[in-house]
Amino acid sequence: MAGGATTPDLVAAVAGAGALGFVAAGYLSAGQLRDQIAAVRDRTSRPFGVNLFVPWRDTDARTDAYAATLAPDAEKLGVELGTPRWDDDDWAGKLELLLTDPLPVVGLTFGCPAGAVAALRNAGSAVAVTVTTLDEARAAAAAGADALLLQGAEAGAHRGSWTPDAEPVPLRELLDAVKTVTDLPLVAAGGLADRDAVNAVLRAGAWYAQVGTALLRSPESGASPAHKDALVKGETTITRAFTGRRARGLVNEFIRAHESDAIEAYPQVHNLTRPLRAAAAKAGDTDRMALWAGTGHASAQDAPAADIIHALAP
Ligand SMILES: Cc1cc2nc3c(=O)[nH]c(=O)nc-3n(C[C@H](O)[C@H](O)[C@H](O)COP(=O)(O)O)c2cc1C
Repeated sequence: MAGGATTPDLVAAVAGAGALGFVAAGYLSAGQLRDQIAAVRDRTSRPFGVNLFVPWRDTDARTDAYAATLAPDAEKLGVELGTPRWDDDDWAGKLELLLTDPLPVVGLTFGCPAGAVAALRNAGSAVAVTVTTLDEARAAAAAGADALLLQGAEAGAHRGSWTPDAEPVPLRELLDAVKTVTDLPLVAAGGLADRDAVNAVLRAGAWYAQVGTALLRSPESGASPAHKDALVKGETTITRAFTGRRARGLVNEFIRAHESDAIEAYPQVHNLTRPLRAAAAKAGDTDRMALWAGTGHASAQDAPAADIIHALAP
């Protein structure tokens, strides 16, 4: 869970409970990722993985009009909007790091470059690729993925889709479709909030279940206190307003005010709103924060991550 929710403590606690934690490499530089990997290794000798964002294509995004609608929010929080630049999330640097110092599993999100999959596999890592549609599942299998992370429409935060127009597919529908076209290990994710939900996807053909939101309120999670508190109630929606890429979060004033003007431009809008979101989180301003959450958010427990994993495990 990029953006601060995943910490080395959370990865180590999840690993210690017998599950597979992922360091969230998204938004980190290669140097920061190296430090986080070292911090997890200091805390556990169990296996863990790293999740990388595949760079989004560079488009000629016109963000001026959208930026103008955000200006009053930035002013209210006393910050300047960020520069709406495209970036590759230090992809090459992080890939190089993982090729030189391989981990057992690397997860890819937002795409599946076959060259990177082959290089990571040659280095000894298993590559698990996030897919949100049947077409993406077929393409990931053809590109050499070792496992597919099926992200259903219910999932918290960014859609891992490879194209902006991929319609979110409910998890069960996605699982039923994908299992007919591949024998690869399937990991089911999206809205899984209790043991019954986990058992149901395992019975339906998933090899493993993956959760994000369920861990957000744990003491090991780096989610802000306001985010943790907000999870207990409210409704979620899928919005582009915060980052220019569809993501599921709790409905708040920012989404209500900006969704109709929001544009598809990731990571430009992400970089544009970044100072605003950071200031809102620091101030505990839940009207302007990105309160990422899956549909099962109200069941998330304020409990040690290991207890949460044990309570979910079949
Ligand atoms: C706060 C937050 C941050 C996330 N960040 C990432 C990420 O960096 N990379 C990724 O592949 N998925 C990310 N996800 C999505 C998860 O991998 C997973 O698909 C999702 O959490 C499953 O749905 P659930 O949140 O309902 O359990 C994130 C989810 C949340 C809630």
